[in-house]
Parts: sequence; C-alpha cells; structure tokens
Amino acid sequence: MAILGAGSMGGAIARALAAGGATRSLTVTNRTRAKADALAGLPGVRSLATETDTDVNSVAAAAADVVVLGVKPAAITDLVSGIAARLRPGAALVSLAAGIPIAAIEQAAPPGTPVIRAMPNTPAALGRGVTGLAPGSSADAAVMATVGRLFAACGAVVEVPEDRIDALSTISGSGPAYVFLLVEALTAAARDLGFPPAQARVLAEQTFIGAAALLADTGADPAELRRRVTSPGGTTERAVAVLEAADLPGLFARAARAALARAREIAAGS
Ligand SMILES: NC(=O)c1ccc[n+]([C@@H]2O[C@H](COP(=O)([O-])OP(=O)(O)OC[C@H]3O[C@@H](n4cnc5c(N)ncnc54)[C@H](OP(=O)(O)O)[C@@H]3O)[C@@H](O)[C@H]2O)c1
Repeated sequence: MAILGAGSMGGAIARALAAGGATRSLTVTNRTRAKADALAGLPGVRSLATETDTDVNSVAAAAADVVVLGVKPAAITDLVSGIAARLRPGAALVSLAAGIPIAAIEQAAPPGTPVIRAMPNTPAALGRGVTGLAPGSSADAAVMATVGRLFAACGAVVEVPEDRIDALSTISGSGPAYVFLLVEALTAAARDLGFPPAQARVLAEQTFIGAAALLADTGADPAELRRRVTSPGGTTERAVAVLEAADLPGLFARAARAALARAREIAAGS
C-alpha cells in the first residue's frame, strides 16, 4: 500500500494503520523532507520525500496494490498522470480529495483502473473515524472489500454511491467541528454560571467525552440514554425543554444543507 501526500488526512490514516499493526508494506510520500521525517518513526512505514528524489511517488505506486491519493484536490489529476505508467495492473486508486469527481481521476489513470473516492474524518487518526467510500466504474465488490478492510483501521466504514459523498461529508466530514462547537458552547454556559475557565473546561469536555464513551460502550440508542438522565419533573427535563424549544434538529438540518450548498458551489468553481 502507498499513501501519496501523507499530510493531515493521509498522515492520520498512516498512524491508524500503524496503531493497528497493518503497516508492514506501507510507503508514504510527502513533498518536504521534514514532513517525511515526521512519519519515518511509524513501525513498518517507509517515508519518502519528493524533494529528495522526484521519482518517489512512482516508485511507491509501482509497489502497491492500493494507492491512496492524499494531496490537495487541485494537485490530484497531475499526480495520477505522473504515476499512471508505473501503476500495477489492477492496483486501486483511492482519492481523499474533496470535490474531485471519480471520472476526473479515471480519465488520468490507465483504462480500467479501479478508482474509489473516500471521505474520512479527523478522528481517523485514533481509529475512531467514519469513512465514506464510493466505488468508481471499475471498482468491483472485491476491491471495495479490500479497501474497506484498510479503512476499518480508521474506524467505521460506510459505502455509498458517489452522488452521496458530498451529503455524507456534511454529517461526518464536517461533524467533528459541530461537536467542538457544542463543547465550546457548554463551556461558555459553565463560565456564565461562575466556574473558573479551567473548571468550566473540565466540566464541559469530560461530559462530552464520557457521554460519547457511554454511547459507544452500551450501544444503546442516544434517546434512551438521554431518558436515563432525565427524571420526570427534574432539572435535566427543564433544560432539555429549553433546547428542544430552539428546534435543534431543524438547526442541524439547516447547517448540513448549508454545507451541501457550499460543496455544490465549490464543484461549480466558485
Ligand atoms: N483534513 C481533513 O479533515 C480532510 C478530510 C477529508 C478529506 N480530506 C482531503 O485530503 C486531502 C489532503 O488534505 P490535508 O488536509 O491532509 O492536506 P495537507 O495536510 O496539506 O496534506 C497534503 C500533503 O501532500 C503533500 N504533497 C504535496 N505535493 C505532493 C507531491 N507531489 N507528492 C507527494 N506529496 C505531496 C504535502 O507535503 P508538504 O507539506 O511537504 O508539501 C502534504 O503533506 C485533500 O484532498 C482533502 O480534500 C481532508
């Protein structure tokens, strides 16, 4: 396997694979030597820089069955054109690039190359991410299963058709930002009640971390977990009534639709 462009997202995937002990034959590339050095310590990972040797992307791709493309979206088709002649027959290309259609990558790759679009999110680095995978025209079930197993090291994997990738990104791709915003808001509420900043932070952050762990460990429905802390006539019930009066579901639906509208603007070049 190779990850060409192992920056924030590609590097997170490399770290998750390393933590899962799945990096025996992983080569990662970056432009600068400094970036490459930062990943060189991962167990089993070969980390190369194009500024040291301009051929490293082709060398890494030539040895891989799965080639993850982690450069910025604007650089992706040039990267694929540059490695096309050296790709193994049947090797899969997995693009992380937001907003670049599979067809554009298929056009730059040898005919029949299986191309998959992946939309991971940042908790992938801890193996707690969600990755959406969409198959291109030559990616059959066996290739999807292979790539799905690799991304399972980053957390949950959801397969969708390509026309759902932008919608998926408005929930799980952008979602960590929504959660951090909620943590910030609850911290501000604690400050408003007179807690000093350090205490406010612990109260709000640990509540999110603990509640998320309960959700993960019990596998219970979040509405059921909420009911368990909401005694009839109690204090939580009063607070939840205020939040519900603000139509939180409607607010999140509007936020997700705003993100989707922006994805369409970006795709249209504005
Ligand atoms: N960050 C996210 O949350 C996220 C989520 C989903 C998808 N994505 C997608 O992931 C991709 C990368 O985003 P990012 O945030 O990870 O960006 P990033 O941190 O800038 O990573 C891009 C990496 O590519 C390297 N690079 C540039 N040109 C290269 C070349 N010719 N050969 C090899 N490596 C090269 C850069 O190395 P140097 O820094 O040394 O130049 C950098 O480390 C984008 O397509 C983005 O749409 C990101």
